Amino acid sequence: MNKIALITGGSKGIGLEVARSLLSIGYKVCITGRSQESLKRAEDNLSAGSALKTVAVDVRSYDDMADAVASVESDWGHIDVVVANAGVGHFAPIQELSIDQWNDTIDINLTGVFYTVKATLSSLSNSQGYLITIASLAGTNFFARGTAYNASKFGLVGFTQAAMLDLRHEGIKVTTIMPGSVSTYFNGRVPSDADAWKIQPEDIGQMVVDLLDMPPRTLPSKIEVRPSQPPQK
Ligand SMILES: NC(=O)c1ccc[n+]([C@@H]2O[C@H](COP(=O)([O-])OP(=O)(O)OC[C@H]3O[C@@H](n4cnc5c(N)ncnc54)[C@H](OP(=O)(O)O)[C@@H]3O)[C@@H](O)[C@H]2O)c1
Repeated sequence: MNKIALITGGSKGIGLEVARSLLSIGYKVCITGRSQESLKRAEDNLSAGSALKTVAVDVRSYDDMADAVASVESDWGHIDVVVANAGVGHFAPIQELSIDQWNDTIDINLTGVFYTVKATLSSLSNSQGYLITIASLAGTNFFARGTAYNASKFGLVGFTQAAMLDLRHEGIKVTTIMPGSVSTYFNGRVPSDADAWKIQPEDIGQMVVDLLDMPPRTLPSKIEVRPSQPPQK
């Protein structure tokens, strides 16, 4: 197999486990993230040797994304799968949400995905590849303190579905995965035993592998996924 994947925000959480799943089925994987330190930790954790490449990229910079894509293509020739996963959460009542928090959320969760898609589109077109975005159930369920995050994820679901309609005729598959609570480092959390009821990040890795396994004629375009037994309120 000579399949190549690029995962934004692959240094921890969901992105890291999607990387592990794709490596386990023989993909070469490039993961990105802002922090060199986190990327180094991910590299040690995955111990995948030359099948893994790490590039420090902030998805808020189109030029940096384009450079990362050029570097992957120069090393490995092409890109088959892009997982636009990098994301952040700022949660506060609208009365308290700052301009910086709003801009950060939209710039990373929405514009960052747009930049990722624009930077990888010609590679995906050449390989008849697969684009997966990691949205959220917050892209369909709104909640108090969620204005910025809801806006970014509702936007991302709409963006991805519209892109799917444009790109399927070019042979590019597009899926948005909308998880509920996943046990990760999201929003400064640290995963613990108390998170056992949540979706585990490797379950999203399994979902990505399953999507790649679907017959070419079939496209699950929008997937809601939630914990099967959340604590009862
Ligand atoms: N955890 C949940 O319950 C949950 C539920 C639904 C959806 N999601 C979505 O899942 C995605 C992954 O989140 P996670 O839960 O895995 O969180 P996480 O453990 O905090 O991981 C986030 C990843 O994104 C990277 N990242 C953040 N900002 C970035 C930027 N500007 N440029 C490049 N990389 C950036 C982080 O690396 P650096 O910090 O080094 O940049 C890290 O690798 C997000 O889009 C999130 O909205 C999470």
